[in-house]
Amino acid sequence: MSRFERKILFAIGLTVFLTLGGSIFFAQGALREVYRVGVNERFGQELVHGVEARRGQLVALRESSEQVADAIGWAVEAEVSEKASLRPRALEALLVKLLERYPDVRGVRVVDGDRLYAGASRKPEPKGDPLRATVRSRDISARGKNLRVEVEVVVPEIYFQRLQEAGEVADVYSRLQRESASVSDVYVWVFGVLVFLVIVVAFLIGAIASRRVTRRVTVLAEASRRVGAGDLTVSLPTGATDEVTELTQAFNDMVRDLRDSRTRIEYLQRIGAWQDFARRLAHEIKNPLTPIQLAAQEMDETYTGDDDGYREKLEHARAIIEEEVATLRRLVGEFSAFAKLPRADLSPADLCELIQSIQDSVPAILEDIGADGPAPVEVRVSCATRPMHVRMDPMMLRRGVDNILRNAIQAVYRAKPTGGGRVLLRAHSVENSAFIEVLDNGPGIAREDWDRVFDPYYTTKVEGTGLGLAIVKKVVLEHGGEVSLDDAPEGGARFRIRLPLMGSS
Ligand SMILES: Nc1ncnc2c1ncn2[C@@H]1O[C@H](COP(=O)(O)OP(=O)(O)OP(=O)(O)O)[C@@H](O)[C@H]1O
Ligand SMILES: [Mg+2]
Repeated sequence: MSRFERKILFAIGLTVFLTLGGSIFFAQGALREVYRVGVNERFGQELVHGVEARRGQLVALRESSEQVADAIGWAVEAEVSEKASLRPRALEALLVKLLERYPDVRGVRVVDGDRLYAGASRKPEPKGDPLRATVRSRDISARGKNLRVEVEVVVPEIYFQRLQEAGEVADVYSRLQRESASVSDVYVWVFGVLVFLVIVVAFLIGAIASRRVTRRVTVLAEASRRVGAGDLTVSLPTGATDEVTELTQAFNDMVRDLRDSRTRIEYLQRIGAWQDFARRLAHEIKNPLTPIQLAAQEMDETYTGDDDGYREKLEHARAIIEEEVATLRRLVGEFSAFAKLPRADLSPADLCELIQSIQDSVPAILEDIGADGPAPVEVRVSCATRPMHVRMDPMMLRRGVDNILRNAIQAVYRAKPTGGGRVLLRAHSVENSAFIEVLDNGPGIAREDWDRVFDPYYTTKVEGTGLGLAIVKKVVLEHGGEVSLDDAPEGGARFRIRLPLMGSS
C-alpha cells in the first residue's frame, strides 16, 4: 500500500470515527438525560401508590360484599324465626325483595344440607361490563334447623384488570429503574460495534476507490522519474475520464513540450556547429583563392615560347581555374553569410503585411533562376486573416519564406519550363497559431527525404549549397515555431510554418 493510499484511508477513518463517535457521545448524554427525567423516585412512588389504591378499592368491595352477605343472612334468619310455619314460597318472596335492595347481588339460595330450600336470582342477567361473581355463605340456625344462605355477589371484572395492569406497569418501572445505569452502557456498546463495522466498510470502499487513483498516481510518479532521468519518449495512456485523466493529459503535454524544446535546442546547437564549420571552411578556402588565380594568370601571361599548342593549353587551364575560383568565391560568400547569420530579434508585427510584401520579390527570384518568358511560373499570394500579429524578426522571416518560395519556383520551373507551373503562398490562423504555407505543383519530395532536406548541405542541385532550408528551420525555431513538410494536393511539395499568434501563450 502506497503512502498516498494510507493517507486517504487514514482521512476516511478519521472522518467516520469523528462523526460517529461524536454522535454516540451526544446520544449517550441525551439518553442519560431522558433516564434522569423519566426514571426518578417520585414516578416510582406514584406508580406504587396507584397499585395500592386499586388494591384498596378491591378490599373495600370485598368488605362491602361480606356486609351484604351478613345482612341477607340476618334477614333470612329473622324471617325463619318469626314465621310459625316456614314455606319456601314465602321465603322466596323475601329473597326477591332482598335482591331488589342489593343491586350487587345476583342470586341468593337457602339450602338445607344438600337440598335447595328456596332461591331467587336476578333475571335477566344485567348487560354491560363483564362481572366476576363470588359466593359468600352464612350458616343460620332457627327452629332447630341448620340452614345455609349462599349469596352470589358480583364485582365488575374491570377492577381486577386495572389492578393487574397497574401492577405490571409498576413492575416494568422498577425493572427500568434497576437497569437504568446499565442500559446506556449497552447502547454505547452497540453503537461502538456499529462504528467499528462502518469504519471497516468505509475502509474497504475507500481502499477500492483509491486504489485505482493511487495506482495511476504511482504510474505518473514513476513516469516523472523517467523524465527526470532524461527519457522524453514517455507518454501515458489517458484512459477513462476520471480525476487523474486531466493530470495525465497535462503530464503528456508537458513531456511533449519538453521533447519539442529539446529537439529545437538540439537542432539549433547543430546549426551552430555547422555555422562554425562554415566559417572555418570559408576562411580556409578564401585565402588560397587569390594566389591560385594570380598564379594561373601569371603562368599564362609570362609564357614567351612559340608553341601555339602549349599556349592554347595554358589559356584553357587559366579559363577553367578562373571559372572554378569564381564558383568557390560564390560558395565561400554563401558559407560566410550562413556563418554570420544573426539570431532572430523578435518584435510584434503583422504577418499578413510581410506575406504580401514577398510578392514583390517574385520577379527577382525568376530572374535569378534564369526563368524567362511571359509567365514561366504562376505565383499567387494570399492572406486569410488580417491583421495577424506575431512576434517576429521581419528580415529573417522574410528570408526564410523567400528560401522556400525560391525552392518551389525552381522546382516547378525545372519540371515545367514551358509553363503550367503554379506556386501558392498563403497565410491563415487557427486558434493560437498562425500558418504560412507554400504549395507547388512540381515533382514533390520523396517521403524518406522529408527530414533530410532541412539538414545543412543537403542538396540535389548542381549549384546548390543545401543551406536554404537549414536557414528556414533555424529562423522558424528561433521564432518559437516549427516547420514541416508533406505532399501538396496537386502532387508537389507543401511546406508549412507554424508560429505562435500574439495574445496566446
Ligand atoms: N519545392 C520543392 N520541390 C522539390 N524539391 C525541393 C523543394 N524544396 C526543396 N527541395 C529539395 O530540398 C533540397 C534542399 O533545399 P535547400 O533549399 O536546403 O538547398 P538547395 O535549394 O539545394 O540549395 P540553395 O538553397 O543553396 O540553392 C533541394 O536540393 C531539393 O532537392
Ligand atoms: Mg534552396
